[in-house]
This record gives sequence, structure tokens and C-alpha cells, in this order.
Amino acid sequence: MTVARPLVAGNWKMNGLAISLDEARAVAAAIDAQPPACRVAICPPSTLVHRMADALGGGGVEIGGQDCRAETNGAFTGDISAEMLADAGAGLVILGHSERRAGYGESDALVAAKVEAAMRAGVEPIVCVGETLAEREAGDTLAVVTGQVKASLPSALQGKAFAVAYEPVWAIGTGLTPTLEQIEAVHVAIRETLIAQFGEEGRNPPILYGGSVKPSNAAEILKAREVGGALVGGASLKAADFLGIIMAA
Ligand code: PGA
Repeated sequence: MTVARPLVAGNWKMNGLAISLDEARAVAAAIDAQPPACRVAICPPSTLVHRMADALGGGGVEIGGQDCRAETNGAFTGDISAEMLADAGAGLVILGHSERRAGYGESDALVAAKVEAAMRAGVEPIVCVGETLAEREAGDTLAVVTGQVKASLPSALQGKAFAVAYEPVWAIGTGLTPTLEQIEAVHVAIRETLIAQFGEEGRNPPILYGGSVKPSNAAEILKAREVGGALVGGASLKAADFLGIIMAA
């Protein structure tokens, strides 16, 4: 079994208009000129998925969605299915981001249903987990995170390509990051959980770190034990910053 290549994915969140495709084009051009060691993905808002796929088609940048609904289609005003993301050109989808878990009350069970939907549509899920500051201060980090991993990853993922992203809620968009020791402790615990769930195949999925990753801290974070890439929010919006992280991988 080969361990999957690291993945550096940009999460644009609710940012980006047509003009922002220029940033994605700049990333694509730079990695075509100098192919990095990692896979590179950008997850724009759903309005840009199709246009970005058209603009970057076939290049080194993979396109992802930021969420999907579990159902294939139906009367769900405002929602988007995994099949629709795939149809628009996305090969990946972020699921269970803390902004959705907290803002929309998404449970582990719902995240697991969305993961099943992504598999059904042939879209690779990036499943996010992470503790709040209160949970960390209470000493519950490992229990919370491994509990989320167990309950958000359905057994049907066995043998399928997927990634896990560890994103401490208190580190997202705050400029704060855990120490390397704290990151490694959680990533090792996630790896052990994956092996317990999926056997030897559990060694394969990359475990991304996310939360205030920037060019200045990327190299040391990406070298940490069991860190297999990064999920990058704010610093993925500008090509120069995102490339600084990609080239550190
Ligand atoms: P940040 O966001 O890099 O802006 O902290 C990361 C994320 O929410 O995925």
C-alpha cells in the first residue's frame, strides 16, 4: 500500500467573484511551471466551481466543493448535491467544516451521510474535525476529535480515497496555531483511529492540518508527524500566499 500524496487544499469559503479566477489561474500556471510535491486543490464557492473547472481544466489544480447535501436531488431550496458538484467539475468536497457544524448544527451522523453522498457521486471527501477552545481547556481534545472521526467516517469508505482535516476551531481565522507537539498528538491519535476503523488501509488517507496556516508557518507544520497536507482558508485567497504554502509541502 502506498501512502497517499500530501494534499494542500484552499477553502475560499464565501469569498470569490469571477475576477478571483485570476488568482486560481496564477496558482495553476505556477504549479505547471514548477510541479510541487503535493496535490493542490481549490474549493471555491459553488457559483465558481464550474467556471474554475473550465478555466483550469485538466491542469494541476483540482477543484472541490465546500459542502453538499446528502440527497441526490429534490425539494431542498438553496442546497447542492454531490452529483451537482461532480457535474460542475469538482473532484473533491469539504464536509463537516466547523463553520457548518456550528452554524448549521451539523452532527457527525449528518456528516457521515454527506460522506456517503460524496462516494455515491465519485467525489473525494475531505472530512473536517476539531475541538473548540473550551474542549481543549477541559482536556477533551483527543476524545472529541477521535469521536468525530469515528462517527463522521462511514465504514463504506473502506478502500476509497478520502482525507481527514484536523482544524482546531479556535485556530480557524484567528492567527493562533497549536504547538507542533499539540498538532502531532492529535494527528497521531487520528491515524490510530483510522487504523482501528479501516485496518492497514487506515494508514493511507492524508491527515491535513487546518487553522491559520500561512507561508511563514507552513514548512514546519507540514513536516510534523502524520501531517499530510493543509486545509487553508484566508491564505488561499491570494495566489502568492497559497503558492508559498504549496511550495513548502
Ligand atoms: P484559516 O481557515 O486558514 O483562515 O484559518 C482554515 C479553514 O477554515 O479551513
